[in-house]
Amino acid sequence: MSSAVDAALIDAALILDRCDELAAVSSSPDHLVRVHLSPEHAAANALVAGWMAEAGLSTWQDAAGNQCGRLEGEMPGLPALLLGSHIDTVPDAGRYDGMLGVLLAIAVAGRVRDAGLRLPFALEVVAFSDEEGTRFGTALLGSRALAGTWNDQWWNLSDAAGITLVEAFQDFGLDPARLPSAFRRPESLVGYLEAHIEQGPFIEDADRSLAVVTSIAGARRFTLALTGHAGHAGGTPYDRRRDALVGASELVVAVERLSIADGTIGTVGRMQAFPGGVNVIPGRAEFSLDLRAEHDADRDECLAHIRSAAAEICARRGLEYTETEIYRADAVPCDADLREVVATGIRSTGDAEPLELYSRAGHDGVAVSAVTGFAMLFVRCAGGVSHHPDESVRAADVAAAVVAFEAAVLAVAERDFTQP
Ligand code: GLV
Ligand code: MN
Ligand code: MN
Repeated sequence: MSSAVDAALIDAALILDRCDELAAVSSSPDHLVRVHLSPEHAAANALVAGWMAEAGLSTWQDAAGNQCGRLEGEMPGLPALLLGSHIDTVPDAGRYDGMLGVLLAIAVAGRVRDAGLRLPFALEVVAFSDEEGTRFGTALLGSRALAGTWNDQWWNLSDAAGITLVEAFQDFGLDPARLPSAFRRPESLVGYLEAHIEQGPFIEDADRSLAVVTSIAGARRFTLALTGHAGHAGGTPYDRRRDALVGASELVVAVERLSIADGTIGTVGRMQAFPGGVNVIPGRAEFSLDLRAEHDADRDECLAHIRSAAAEICARRGLEYTETEIYRADAVPCDADLREVVATGIRSTGDAEPLELYSRAGHDGVAVSAVTGFAMLFVRCAGGVSHHPDESVRAADVAAAVVAFEAAVLAVAERDFTQP
């Protein structure tokens, strides 16, 4: 371990304690779940705001519920280098997905303040309000507000309790009419850097602590439905059944087979049968499809194969197929200069040839890229496990990430990104 990384173990310990503290802010006593615009989101924003203030940042919550903090540069009002990640979670989440990146960003801002550095840009930390889309099904709501790519149709999205997004904003104390004020003009920004756990096993397999991200996979999400005919589980002979759930199950298996064959990543994470009686043949099955690939063309080709498989299954079983797209984010390359800055940061930890990975997971950079360039630092997580309470990181890797992320910020200052 380099001496700089060794010294950063103190920062790492504080970051890990704070991840534990945030993990206790949950709407369930049994596991971690904290969704967009919930009372727990407000409590997490308040905790994060306190830590930002301790690091010397002025703080505010923007009109989309993103918690923000700012450290001025060598003069007030300079364009800002954004650092951050998200603080919402999936259901039964781990404690590092998103949160680690927010706390690393605060730690680095605090180190810059403590060192009395006068950067040629302001540093801003953002804890994005919604990256996962757990509550309203549509992801990146916080970062899309910041990037000015908000779609007013989203106001009518509703959560599982039937609360619409517009009502949730009001309940949270936010004025939906003010949403456009969360938009950050490109000229007010220098770039966006995010640190995040890898959520995959490749850094661990390579026996490294960190990696630099090359691009973020393109993802599309759908609600799929197969409709057949409900009927009596005892009385209906097999040759007269139009069982939607059996057809859907065949399609789920086809999604896996075709994704592997096409080199993409397809997942069905949710499925429901209707009417849902133990003695009733399911007349309708609804399920989700999450489809990703490094390149959009591969993803879309796999989707065409999945549609063909659905058509064949439906023809054979007397079912109807419908598909509603609920999310689409095309693949986004990281900014070449900022990527090099992150690689420089990793080299400063003693890793001479930083590992490069594309991100299979989606991140706020997908949205932020509409207004400014972005790059990402990945941190090893045990077994590549994520979206699960077993998410775990090593203190030494977090210390290396602190050193690398700070060095990346200083490398941005060297490169003078304030010039157009
Ligand atoms: C975000 O966590 C994703 O689903 O990639
Ligand atoms: Mn996640
Ligand atoms: Mn995440």
